[in-house]
Amino acid sequence: MQQTGFTHVDHQLSHGIDGKIGNRNSMALINLAWNKDFMWDGGVNNLEMQPINPITNPLEMDETIEHVIAKLQASEKYRILFAKAFGDEKITSQRLLKALAQFTVMLTSSNAKYDKVMRKEESFTTQEQHGYDLFKINCASCHKEPLFSDDRFEKNGLSIDETLNDFGIKITNKPEDYLRFKTPTLRNIQFTFPYMHDGRFKSLTEVIKHYNSLGHDKNLPKELDKPMNLSNNDRVDLVAFLVTLTDKDFLFNNRFSFPRE
Ligand code: HEC
Repeated sequence: MQQTGFTHVDHQLSHGIDGKIGNRNSMALINLAWNKDFMWDGGVNNLEMQPINPITNPLEMDETIEHVIAKLQASEKYRILFAKAFGDEKITSQRLLKALAQFTVMLTSSNAKYDKVMRKEESFTTQEQHGYDLFKINCASCHKEPLFSDDRFEKNGLSIDETLNDFGIKITNKPEDYLRFKTPTLRNIQFTFPYMHDGRFKSLTEVIKHYNSLGHDKNLPKELDKPMNLSNNDRVDLVAFLVTLTDKDFLFNNRFSFPRE
């Protein structure tokens, strides 16, 4: 859903076809052109191949590529659109995947208040500036500017959800990857709730409370292995900074919205 950064809101675990419930909270789709790996566990490393996953996953679209192609071939509307894009009406899986990748690769968000401040077109309020200072100290090592992700897999101190038992290591099966998930971008984070791979937090306030509750723990990366000691005011200011990552030009860009007939 474009207006929420191309993610599914409202549900902790994203829903698929026939109301089936998936295993994770869908990630926002923002600035993917600069990512090397995709999905919470890096299960996909190529944007062009990525759609095969949700199309065929029994809990997501539960389809086959062959059947999707057959449906597209039967549609005059799509035959015309494929001819416009590729020069003739042939609809193949390669063209389908190319077309989807062309769309997802152009989902660029770079016009939030944060970007305007960086370009010296606007300035932060005192509160936002203080939040930014706290962010640089406590968060920016993983949520690296300007993408707000380091495109790596990190542990951020979440405890295991005992119902889901999702250790995030299915891809490598290495014990050192236990509880590591991809550092998600924080762009448009105001609207991409709920948060984390399992959607366990509904608000940014809850997320920051989690980080602030971490104590001395040598199993955590060094940025998180000691208490942050954020005061109530600090936490409010940090949220005020995170809201400056909202980019309305992206969330409401007509180029990305459902095509009008
Ligand atoms: C050691 C690396 C690291 C540090 C430091 C860190 N994070 Fe994260 N952050 C992560 C990872 C990894 C995830 C995803 C974890 C998961 O879902 O299991 C995450 C998830 C989040 C999310 C949820 C995003 C979403 O789309 O669901 C928010 C919001 C967030 N972090 C904000 C912060 C803030 C604010 C700070 C500083 C107070 C911070 N993080 C510090 C690694 C880090």
